[in-house]
Amino acid sequence: MGGDLTLAALHALATPVGEALLTAVAADPGGDPLARAARLRRGAPAGLVAAAETLVALRRRARGKFALADRLWLTRAGLEQASSDRTAARHARRYEGLAHVADLCCGVGGDAMALGRGRRATAVDADPVHAEAARRNAAVAGADVGVVVADVADVDLAGVDGVFVDPARRTGAGRLRTGDSLPPLAWCAGLSARVPPVGVKAAPGLPLDLAPAGWEVEFVSEGRELKEALLWSPALAPDGPVRRAAVIAGDTVHELVAGAAPPAPVGQPGPWLVDPDPAVTRAGAVADLAARLGARQLDDRVAFLTADDRPRTPFGRVLPVAASLPWNLKALRAELRRLDVGSVQVRKRGSAVDVDDLRRRLRLDGARPATVVLTRLADRPWALVCWDGPDAAPPSP
Ligand SMILES: C[S@@+](CC[C@H](N)C(=O)[O-])C[C@H]1O[C@@H](n2cnc3c(N)ncnc32)[C@H](O)[C@@H]1O
Repeated sequence: MGGDLTLAALHALATPVGEALLTAVAADPGGDPLARAARLRRGAPAGLVAAAETLVALRRRARGKFALADRLWLTRAGLEQASSDRTAARHARRYEGLAHVADLCCGVGGDAMALGRGRRATAVDADPVHAEAARRNAAVAGADVGVVVADVADVDLAGVDGVFVDPARRTGAGRLRTGDSLPPLAWCAGLSARVPPVGVKAAPGLPLDLAPAGWEVEFVSEGRELKEALLWSPALAPDGPVRRAAVIAGDTVHELVAGAAPPAPVGQPGPWLVDPDPAVTRAGAVADLAARLGARQLDDRVAFLTADDRPRTPFGRVLPVAASLPWNLKALRAELRRLDVGSVQVRKRGSAVDVDDLRRRLRLDGARPATVVLTRLADRPWALVCWDGPDAAPPSP
């Protein structure tokens, strides 16, 4: 990893010539890159100009993740895998009260910058480019981080009170299979025999049966996109081995713990549909959401919920139901025309319908957007037409 910006490039970019190039590129955001490169190459080697262009582009891309993006040292691979300010701060909160934490597989330091605030962190990465970036980024962030270039397997954890490990889920050759990582998950979990407080960041698609027994598993989403799964050893899991959904919405994180509620009642579609957030479904917290909302499930094997009163929740999309009918293409098309629908998003759970084929065959010409929900109801294929947001239209009577 780290093959995009080299260590030599990082060092050269930190010289006065390099800093001047970074400033010049950053100050010309809308400029013609070819003209700019030609101009800058008069005063600096072409390779260094190209490296400055790469880093400035990465810094711009990093703005969605880091408040300090414009000053950070990044590689393409390092940025892609880095925890954002928000997720890293959340990880770090688990280590409150611990004086010295090891960040194993620190990458460019997304987590290290948060772990090294209010405590000491030792960050380790085998990739010297990432380690150098992490060292500089910790300094930019004012974090207390000592960085070591080493294989994490060789690190002595004496004097460390807690460990965070974010193993690589891709190599230079591409993404690893879901559940695979370097170092492997079993090695990461085994760290708890040496230092009991351990947190592991894993791919959001992690099969639950790979989670170590007795550990908490937390699924984190933002904007309805699953971002990560976190495994917390018993020493960092005050609620026990729960499954938790954490939904990030702006500066707030909404949490729902699975397993406390009895199975949700199953029943007919009401005027409101709730399409649970992927963190909720992955955590197995659909029944818990139903209990919270006084909602029922459309089918005991399908995660859509329905309610009679408008649910207000950050844990799912809430849609007013405009029509509910047994799945039949002609009948659905007629309903969509009656409702003056011109464009549809299709959501399906528990349905075998081919969505692209359905879109082609609907041939709509109305004015309104809608969501078509394809699912099952008491084991029958079923369709719902929903307006696109809770305020898009009142539910049909
Ligand atoms: C997912 S990234 C870490 C991202 C980091 N948490 C952040 O927020 O920026 C994984 C890192 O693990 C490192 N790595 C993989 N195997 C390693 C090993 N055996 N020893 C040390 N580092 C390793 C890779 O070089 C890579 O930088």
